[in-house]
Amino acid sequence: MKFLVLGAGGQLGREWKRYLEQEGYEHDAFGSSKVDITDRLSVFEALNENRPDVVVNCAAYTDVDGAEDHWNEARELNIDAVENLANLCSDLNATLVHYSTDYVFPGRAEDADTYPDGYPESLTPDPLNNYGLSKFRGEQKIKQSNADHLIIRAAWLCGQFGSNFVKTMLRLARERDKLTVVNDQKSAPSLARNVVENSIALLESRQRGIYHAASEGLISWYDYACEIMNQAGIDIEVEPVSSDEFPQEARRPAYSKLSIEKLRKVEGARIIGWKEGLRALLADLIDDL
Ligand SMILES: NC(=O)c1ccc[n+]([C@@H]2O[C@H](COP(=O)([O-])OP(=O)(O)OC[C@H]3O[C@@H](n4cnc5c(N)ncnc54)[C@H](OP(=O)(O)O)[C@@H]3O)[C@@H](O)[C@H]2O)c1
Repeated sequence: MKFLVLGAGGQLGREWKRYLEQEGYEHDAFGSSKVDITDRLSVFEALNENRPDVVVNCAAYTDVDGAEDHWNEARELNIDAVENLANLCSDLNATLVHYSTDYVFPGRAEDADTYPDGYPESLTPDPLNNYGLSKFRGEQKIKQSNADHLIIRAAWLCGQFGSNFVKTMLRLARERDKLTVVNDQKSAPSLARNVVENSIALLESRQRGIYHAASEGLISWYDYACEIMNQAGIDIEVEPVSSDEFPQEARRPAYSKLSIEKLRKVEGARIIGWKEGLRALLADLIDDL
């Protein structure tokens, strides 16, 4: 299997690149300066020249708040560019691996009772903000194309590279005497390395369609922050607050756990608990601190 990773400079893209290098897969990996996925010619040339079996799209407009005021940018990247990529993959017989988000779901607190295992892949999305809407529309474009594809939804993505909640909490703990973290938004984090491993498992077991990839459990950001401090051995007060005290441009889901029951049945998939995933991530991050 020859891979081409697009958006290779981001959190997930860099994790993919590291994984493919470590495991010795044939691959090319291009960041936005080399291949701008909104530039049709550039994407065509990258695919046509490199002839990958699998195109991994890690490029996206990921500014959740920014998408509220910048719909056109979000649309261009998360919908139009994805549609073009899917059509090219279809033309060139490549499998498209694309990432989406828990934010495609409505995120109502009461959904925790209706879907205690998390939102299943079979549920029709109903996004609560522009970012979620753009990602959902992107998913639809892939499904409407003839591309052989895997759409993998992640939640609360955290890895060694780029910026994410775990790294932000570790930084704030160095800068402040106290952390204030919301306790009314709940999900289960996706660990970047685990997402890549499970993407490979899905490809190797020839699964197609939509899958969720997250860890086991259900926690709030507050719970996550407390465990980060606990595992990192940092003694700092962590205060729980409600989302109302943290007004943000885009609405956030109160509940956005992704069901991983479908992934659990996939040969080779590695299901991890959120604490175990955090432990592995902190071990990686320790070198960067
Ligand atoms: N982060 C999360 O919590 C989360 C949660 C669920 C799902 N996801 C999904 O997971 C995927 C990966 O997210 P991530 O956290 O790795 O995002 P990220 O760190 O923000 O990376 C996104 C990448 O896209 C690149 N990009 C932006 N515009 C581009 C363009 N026109 N052409 C090519 N590349 C472009 C960026 O490159 P530059 O930096 O050079 O602009 C960046 O490297 C996305 O599909 C996202 O929606 C993320």
